[in-house]
Amino acid sequence: MTSSEPAERPEPYVQVRGPVRERYALITGASSGLGAAFADRLAQNGYSLVLVARDEDRLSAVAERVTGRYGTRCEVLPADLASAADRRAVEERVGRGVDFLVNAAGFGVSGSFWSVESAALDAQLAVNVSSTQEFTRAAVAHMLENDGGTVVNLSSITGLVPGRGSTYAASKAWVLYFSQGLSHALRGTNTRVMVLAPGFVRTEFHARAGIDVRTVGDGWWMDPHDVVDQCLVDLRRGKTFSMPGIRNKAFIAAVSRLPRALAQRVNRMLGNAGARA
Ligand SMILES: NC(=O)c1ccc[n+]([C@@H]2O[C@H](COP(=O)([O-])OP(=O)(O)OC[C@H]3O[C@@H](n4cnc5c(N)ncnc54)[C@H](OP(=O)(O)O)[C@@H]3O)[C@@H](O)[C@H]2O)c1
Repeated sequence: MTSSEPAERPEPYVQVRGPVRERYALITGASSGLGAAFADRLAQNGYSLVLVARDEDRLSAVAERVTGRYGTRCEVLPADLASAADRRAVEERVGRGVDFLVNAAGFGVSGSFWSVESAALDAQLAVNVSSTQEFTRAAVAHMLENDGGTVVNLSSITGLVPGRGSTYAASKAWVLYFSQGLSHALRGTNTRVMVLAPGFVRTEFHARAGIDVRTVGDGWWMDPHDVVDQCLVDLRRGKTFSMPGIRNKAFIAAVSRLPRALAQRVNRMLGNAGARA
C-alpha cells in the first residue's frame, strides 16, 4: 500500500441533521503539499471542494485528479491571500457556507529578519495569520448557525519552540494559540477547531523558503498524505491538537521538559534562527 492510499476510509466529520445534503470543504493552499493532500482525502470522504491558492493551473490539475478519482465536484477559486481584496472574495465564499475549512496556505521567508523586505514579512503575516483569522471567523459564524462543522488550521512544531526563527515561528505560534483558544470557546457546540502541527513534511515548503534541509535526516520526514491521515484520525478521536510523527512528539516532549534557558540553547543550535526571518 502506498501512502497516498489511506489504511481506512474515515467517517465524515460533520454530523448533518435533517436530509442528506451536499457537504463542502474549502481548502487554502490546495495547489500543493499538505493542502493538495487534504483535497484528496476530503474528496474521498465525499466532500465537494473549493480549492484556493494563487496558481490556477495547478488548482485545476488537483480538481481534475479528484474529480477523475472520486467524481468530486470542485470549484477553483484563485486568490493571492496576501491581497486584502482577494481575501475578501474567499471570505465571502466561506461565509456562504462550508462544512470543513482547511487553512493550509502558508510560507516562510528566509534571510535575517532585519535584511528581508518588509513587504515579504507583511505578505507572510497576511497569508499565515490574517487569512486564517478571517476565514475561520466566517466559517465558524456560519457553522454555529447551521449544521456545525470542522476547521483545521496549519501550525507547525516550530510554533511550539520559541527560538527557531522569528516571524514564521511566531506566525505558527499565533495559529496554535488562536486555534486552541477558539476550540475551548466552542466546547459544547457542534463546531470544532483543530490545530495541526507537523514537523518536516516532504512538500515544496522548504525549497520555496530557501531553507537548506540537507542535514535533516530521512527519519524526520513525513509524507503529506500520512500527515493528513493522522490529522483525520485525531479528529475522529475528538482531539483538537494533532502532531503527527513519533519523533516530533518525542522532540517536543523533551524540549518542553528542559529549563527555558537550556531549551533556548538547543533551539538556537538546531534552528539556525539567524537565517530565518
Ligand atoms: N512542509 C513542512 O515541513 C511543514 C511543516 C509544518 C507546517 N507546515 C505548514 O503547512 C502549510 C502547507 O505548506 P506545505 O508544506 O504544503 O507547503 P507548499 O507545498 O509550499 O504549499 C504551500 C501552499 O500555500 C499556497 N500559498 C503560498 N502563498 C500563497 C498566497 N500568497 N496566496 C495563496 N496561497 C498561497 C501555495 O499555493 P500557490 O503558490 O499556488 O499560491 C501552496 O498551495 C503551511 O502553512 C506551512 O507553514 C509545513
